[in-house]
Amino acid sequence: MRNRRLLAILSIATPALFVASIAVADAAPGAAETYKAKCASCHGADGSGATAVGKSMKIRDLRSPEVQKQTDTDLQKIMSDGKGKMPAYKSKLSVADISSMVAFVRGMAKK
Ligand code: HEC
Repeated sequence: MRNRRLLAILSIATPALFVASIAVADAAPGAAETYKAKCASCHGADGSGATAVGKSMKIRDLRSPEVQKQTDTDLQKIMSDGKGKMPAYKSKLSVADISSMVAFVRGMAKK
């Protein structure tokens, strides 16, 4: 009797959870969170680079035409291999994560 009730609850809850996780996955999973956690300390939440670290490293505004005119491959390479004081992320982020960061950087420029 108890088991049956549990089963009934599970059969309702499981598909609901499944649908919820698809909805989240649709909205470019975690790119904003990754940026906030790993990049914003240097590049600023808005990509401007107007942070103490960003200013001392003379980071360019990620939204600027100089940065945006580079190809996706260029940006991907900078993120995965690093450049100057920019850390390499190839051991910390998957290729898919890095390309979603490229898309995220492109998205910042449009705002
Ligand atoms: C420790 C500070 C630091 C962190 C953390 C950091 N960056 Fe950078 N980033 C830099 C610096 C410094 C440069 C400029 C490198 C150069 O041109 O010499 C740079 C350059 C870049 C560029 C190219 C900009 C240009 O001027 O062409 C992109 C794109 C970029 N970073 C994205 C990211 C992303 C995405 C993350 C997080 C996954 C990140 N960065 C984390 C410091 C940082």
